[in-house]
Amino acid sequence: MRIDLVRDDVLGRPSKKAAAVALKAHLKVQGGAPLRAALSEELRRQPSLGGQERRFAALATRELSRHQRLLDLVARQLGHPPGQWALAEDRILVRYVLWRRLFTAADWSAIAPEVRLPGPLRPRSVLDPVLEGIASAPLPEIEASSSEVEAAAIRHSFPGWLAEAIAAQLPSGEVDLALAALNREPGVFLRAREPPGRNALLAELGSAGIGCEPVAWARAAIRILDPGMRVFDTPPLRSHRAQVQEPGSQLIAALCAPALRVADVCAGAGGKTLALADQVTARGQVFAGDRSRHRLEEARRRVREYGLSNVTFPQSLPLDTCDAVLIDAPCSGTGSLGREPDMKWKLTPQRVAELVATQRELLDEAAARVRPGAAIVYATCSLLREENWAQVEAFLARHPDFALQPAGEVLGEASAAVVSAAGFLEVWPHRTGTAGFFAARLVRRQG
Ligand SMILES: C[S@@+](CC[C@H](N)C(=O)[O-])C[C@H]1O[C@@H](n2cnc3c(N)ncnc32)[C@H](O)[C@@H]1O
Repeated sequence: MRIDLVRDDVLGRPSKKAAAVALKAHLKVQGGAPLRAALSEELRRQPSLGGQERRFAALATRELSRHQRLLDLVARQLGHPPGQWALAEDRILVRYVLWRRLFTAADWSAIAPEVRLPGPLRPRSVLDPVLEGIASAPLPEIEASSSEVEAAAIRHSFPGWLAEAIAAQLPSGEVDLALAALNREPGVFLRAREPPGRNALLAELGSAGIGCEPVAWARAAIRILDPGMRVFDTPPLRSHRAQVQEPGSQLIAALCAPALRVADVCAGAGGKTLALADQVTARGQVFAGDRSRHRLEEARRRVREYGLSNVTFPQSLPLDTCDAVLIDAPCSGTGSLGREPDMKWKLTPQRVAELVATQRELLDEAAARVRPGAAIVYATCSLLREENWAQVEAFLARHPDFALQPAGEVLGEASAAVVSAAGFLEVWPHRTGTAGFFAARLVRRQG
């Protein structure tokens, strides 16, 4: 089985302390904690870790969730099925050793200082010679699977049902690429604000020694090529002349144009609110709301930080007087698994069904209130049919007074690579090297 090794410049610096952070965070994730929260908490507890060790700890935490299924399968084939260990600590230590072996090509001499007793994690019953065997014994071949999707699900560690659901949207032959892309470390992308605009920012970042390039299909987007996180400490970001934002998110905001009055009904922490505020200019207005007061507080803080005076947070959003209503719906997040790999194991078909019901309610509520000629932009960071194409088809069947406006008409030729034949914005990670997104523009017919 071919394995894509972690690139050296992405790995950071392994150490026993960094391994301890990753293992403790992974243990919490196994107990149900969100990965990002668990990782930040463990990193906070180890203030003495250097930057490169922190990088390793963060990567290792994501990788343990990403490759969980394959690592457990190999452990089983080496004679150490996860069920052999009563302690969760032992199970994840075995996972860690196998991850270092398989995905970073480390041998026991490199792994031993990170895990040898007294180890990075307590309690523990697995002994050093057993770990050494796991790091060194010849690897058995993984049995070939009967189906292309199941083979990809094993190779890229996806639950079978989720691999099937993603594969159902893709031409045969692409599933392996799609799942591989969802296991990659997420990139860093910027939205260039005006002024100074994308070209000026590319030049400025370049002269500060930050490798970067324009994203061809999103006119304000910049891809940061430098895997170090130095970009966050550069003048364009400190002075808010650029915003960290996925290109797909940028195009979702762009799909709300032209509009002077926009309602952002699931504004969350305000990522798209900021882009919408720039788009409607000082002449326009953005009305932001969200069910979560906590997230909306964060949105308020960012709006202040960016010095925007055209965003308000009214108790009730005036959907009936807006030109566009953005529903950036709560979703499975399957397009963002690179960032939140633990979601692969927390998501269930039942949870997806619940999300589909909420999305449908949000759509119907907006449909009842928008005025003729106005648009609902429905968006997700999901790759699943029920949340995307099927949700929109069902909406149009329930609401014959709405029609789909092809995304290409709004986004133009430059974004053709991410507009499907049916007229949806469809960003697939394996085609773009970004996170995945979907959006549809639904316009209420006049008269
Ligand atoms: C995908 S996130 C939004 C991300 C945000 N627009 C951004 O660009 O950063 C979905 C948001 O929907 C919110 N939400 C969930 N159910 C909702 C509801 N019934 N009404 C309004 N917001 C809801 C969640 O709190 C969450 O912040």
